[in-house]
Formats: sequence, C-alpha cells, structure tokens
Amino acid sequence: MSKNMYRLTNLASGKSSDLETRSGTVGPDVIDIGSLWRDHGVFTYDPGFMATASTESRITYIDGDAGVLLYRGYPIEQLAAQSNFLEVSYLLLKGELPDAARIVSFTHSITRHTMLNQSLLRLYGGFHHNAHPMAMVAAIVASLAAFYHDTTNISDDHHREIVSHRIIAKIPTISAAAYKHSLGQPFVYPRNDLDYCSNMLHMLFAVPCETYEVDPLHAKALELLFILHADHEQNASTSTVRLAGSTGCNPYAAISAGVSALWGPAHGGANEAVLDMLEKIGDVKRVPEFLARVKDKAGGARLMGFGHRVYKNFDPRATIIREMCHKVLAKLGEAHSPLFELALVLEEIALKDDYFISRKLYPNVDFYSGIIYRALGIPRSMFTVMFAIARSAGWVAQWQEMIADPTMKIARPRQLYTGPVRRDYMPVSKR
Ligand code: ACO
Repeated sequence: MSKNMYRLTNLASGKSSDLETRSGTVGPDVIDIGSLWRDHGVFTYDPGFMATASTESRITYIDGDAGVLLYRGYPIEQLAAQSNFLEVSYLLLKGELPDAARIVSFTHSITRHTMLNQSLLRLYGGFHHNAHPMAMVAAIVASLAAFYHDTTNISDDHHREIVSHRIIAKIPTISAAAYKHSLGQPFVYPRNDLDYCSNMLHMLFAVPCETYEVDPLHAKALELLFILHADHEQNASTSTVRLAGSTGCNPYAAISAGVSALWGPAHGGANEAVLDMLEKIGDVKRVPEFLARVKDKAGGARLMGFGHRVYKNFDPRATIIREMCHKVLAKLGEAHSPLFELALVLEEIALKDDYFISRKLYPNVDFYSGIIYRALGIPRSMFTVMFAIARSAGWVAQWQEMIADPTMKIARPRQLYTGPVRRDYMPVSKR
C-alpha cells in the first residue's frame, strides 16, 4: 500500500477500504473519505470540524503551530507593512498582486460603487435607535439582493465580479449609516476622493455642519486592522458564506449570513467582549482574581481574546496589532492608556500560567484590536462591524472561488441521530 494511503478496517466484519490522501502545496494531507458511506455505510463524526477540511482552497494558508498566515502565499507581516486594504482585496480575489494599471482600475471600480440606493437608506428608519449595528448591517447587506437584480447570475463571471466589488465598496457605507442612525445624525455620503479607510472614518465621524479632517494616523491604523482581518481561511463566518452560497442563493444573502455568523462572541464579537472584560476587571490588582475565576470555569468566564482553533503557538496578527497599539496610543497621547496597560499585564500573567500554557492559549487578533478601535474613537458596538468590513474581502474571494469551481456541490453535512426511534402519533385526547 502506498504510504499516502490509509486502510480502514471494520474489525467485526474484516472489511477494509483503502483511503487515498490528497496533498496541498503546503500543510497537512487530507484523507479522502468520500467512499466511506458507499463502501461501509458509515459517516465520519467530527463536531466543530476539529479535523475536517471542508473544502479545497487557494486563498489563505495558516500554520497554527508556527504562527504563519499567508494570503495567496504572501506573509501577513509583509502585507501589513507594505500593502493596503484594497490591494490586499485584489490579491485575495484575483490570486496575484495587481500591476499599476490593474490597481487603478480596481480602485476606480470600488470607489464608483460606494453609494447606496436612496430607498435602501430609508430602510434604516425601520430600526429603533438602539438597534445593534450588526443587526442593521446584516439586514441591509441582505437587502442589497432586492436592489441589484442585474448582477445576480452567479454563473456569469462578470456578474460575480461586480457583486464582489459592490460588497467591498458598499459595506463601509452601510456600516457608517448604521452608526449614524444609532446617533440620530444625518447619513454622510462617501467621498470618492479619499482612500478606502479615510473615507470610512469620514462617513463615521463627519457631520454636515463642520469640516472633518481625517487624521492620517487613524487611517493608517484602520488600514492595518483591515489588512489583518481580511481573510482567515475556513473560519466560521467564511464557512457560513460558503455553505449558504453553495445552495446557489443570492450572493448578498450569503454575505449577510456571514455577517450574522461573525457577530458571535466566540468569533468576531470577541473584540467587543474583550473591552467589556477589561472594563469589568478595571484594575491590574484584580487580574489574579479574574484569572482564577476563568480557570475555575464555574461561572463560564473565559479570557476573551485568548485562544484560537488553529493558532496553538501565537497569532501573528496579535503580534502586529500589539505593536500598532504602542505606536497609535503613543501618538494619540494615550501611551499609558489604563486599558492597554491592563491588557499587557493580563497577557503577561496568563502567558506564564500553566492553565493557558498547557491548553496552548495565546492572545488572538481580537485581544488588542478593540483597544485601537477605541483610541480611534470608534464605539464598542461598531467593533465587530469594522471586522465585517475587512472580512468582506475574504468572504467574496471565498464565495467566488467556490462558485467558479465546476465540482461545487451543495454543502449538506450528515448527522449522528440520537432522537426517538419511529413511534405513532396519538391524538391530543389520548396523550
Ligand atoms: N479562556 C479560558 N479557557 C479557554 C479559552 C479562553 N479564552 N479558550 C479555550 N479555553 C479552554 C477551554 O475551556 C478548554 O479547556 P478544557 O480542555 O479544560 O476543556 C480548552 O481551552 C480548549 O478550548 P475549546 O473551547 O475546546 O477550543 P476551541 O478551539 O473550540 O475554541 C475559541 C476556540 C472559540 C476561540 C476559544 O478559545 C474561545 O472561546 N476564546 C475566547 C473567545 C475569542 O477570543 N474568540 C475570538 C477567536 S479569533 C476570531 O474569531 C477572530
């Protein structure tokens, strides 16, 4: 038997099957289990996809043990230091870095799609002022499906491209409008003379009665956060986009499903939860007491912003963000921000604690991102929205990759059924 094959034997019947492996360009091989049901009448069982590759992909690679993150082969550290969010979006979508002409044309297309239909803007009026912005963003992104019938033939390459550009272009406008609605302020229209991140800040913070100058440091910090959050292979929200999209549903609906999945505190909602946690701890002196509660597990408390399904050494994005925190807070005159200092102490103590060491729990991308967002004046309820804006690039790239794959099938997991066996219905009078 080839060393790249596995033999599965039913010890009761002695029946065996040889299972082939498939190799990627880098990373662990996968065992192709497609024949198990046919040959043995069994499914595999892997709740939470702990050891299951759900798809083949060429977009993003993570080595969780080595703390490596590559977008289309390029290390995240290089992209964070030298690239910008739109160039990274192009890279994720197209697979290659753009030349000068291509980036101009891509940027032009994105900036020409930033506005929202006025009828779409009126939908915000249906939300109460204290609606969570993620609820509004998910709803408005899904509503795009009702406005752009011209480009939803998912079999058409050009339609798919326009859908992707519209998502990347409009999600900042949609998000900023959600924020403005919650404040009761007028919506601020996009400014196409600004770069992507400066425009985002402008739409969030400008008001009609004053001039608003975007601080280049703020725009740069946002650019970095957006690059770091742009894609992360088959995470929960991306898998949600793929699963929904595999039915052939409207692409805007699939992206909206991703926004909803991102909202959870175990995923993108963690950045909001980290600040809640830091504020609750409140003082460096209370760190040991808080960590004792986390380790005790009784109250269900977790050290938010720590731990990752894939990274078991360090999250390279957290390392970059921690550095950015130092720079941004120093320049903003908040070098000794109590929350940042608290986070540093919390990290230092946790990293020396056997509970976290033995479980390979390290700070993830969200441990420090909220501190930067806060320093930029972005309110906590918008943290996960900012994550969604950045991740929209990855979602559309992954959705496009899936739809363009001629072998694509509807994603339809199986289950281990443990409910009642067949029984007969009794009329209510006899129960
Ligand atoms: N604090 C305390 N204990 C933790 C934490 C944490 N943050 N994360 C994991 N653990 C413990 C678990 O209790 C478990 O302990 P046990 O072996 O004694 O039962 C062990 O570590 C393994 O944890 P799992 O939950 O099984 O790991 P999983 O891979 O399923 O979860 C997750 C990963 C969801 C990220 C988890 O670490 C977590 O909840 N972290 C806090 C939330 C967070 O920061 N999420 C953001 C993730 S990054 C992102 O989405 C952008």
